[in-house]
Amino acid sequence: MACKAQGALFRERFGNRERSMEPKDRIIVALDTSDRGTALRWAEQLAGSVGAAKVGLELVNAAGLGVLDDLRDAGCGRIFYDAKLHDIPNTVAGACRPIGRRGLWMTNVHACGGARMIKAAADALAEGASDAGCDAPLLVAVTLLTSLSPLEATEELLLNLPPADYVPAMARLARNAGAQGVVASPREIEAIRWACGSDFLIVTPGVRPAWTDAGDQRRTATPAEAVRMGADYLVIGRPITGAANPAEAAARIADEIAQG
Ligand code: C5P
Repeated sequence: MACKAQGALFRERFGNRERSMEPKDRIIVALDTSDRGTALRWAEQLAGSVGAAKVGLELVNAAGLGVLDDLRDAGCGRIFYDAKLHDIPNTVAGACRPIGRRGLWMTNVHACGGARMIKAAADALAEGASDAGCDAPLLVAVTLLTSLSPLEATEELLLNLPPADYVPAMARLARNAGAQGVVASPREIEAIRWACGSDFLIVTPGVRPAWTDAGDQRRTATPAEAVRMGADYLVIGRPITGAANPAEAAARIADEIAQG
């Protein structure tokens, strides 16, 4: 299919998604720090300006899991616990049950743990949530770390498919095993959208507004480009947390998304 025709077909099939959410609610701010006080300050500054906050192992390993509750109470929106679990199904289930009890919005596992592991995670999150009487977090799967180059993927990990084919295949596996979405680089959004349809969530890091520095991110897209390509949520860290006024930076990004 010619590129242009494919683009038009893509918009026809998936284009309405773009208008169904407030631009600010697409922003997941990455609270990348090991300092609890800094994370809480960012959360307070960003209350009402972003849809969610992503908390990773750096902060949780330094400050303990309780920091997730503190951040939720700070009012910066929903919490995505970037747990990136990858182990045997029984162990992942054991790790997911307490996560499910915390009333979080989203968490994740590595898709390469396989279908049984992903299903064990989804079931255990639901069990934990049901014990606690809260909603289970959305489960998203990391398809292939974007830090890996295509050469590393084939020569070190011995993947016999290039990332462009491997990633949508892993997304399909994750969807069939019970995940609600994937984490994927801007480069992979369209292929995943084609492979998994319109109601599968795509969470995209590596997003850089036109007015900021790319830093160490390589395969970047602007917020508007990522949403046009079919991303649901954008994980954005330093362009917001490194700004003199984080709430103003988030508002500028939301404007950029709204302009399309
Ligand atoms: O500061 P910056 O916007 O680059 O932060 C991006 C966030 O997304 C970081 O928390 C990083 O760990 C995360 N991430 C990423 N690439 C991935 C997966 C997660 O940059 N493939």
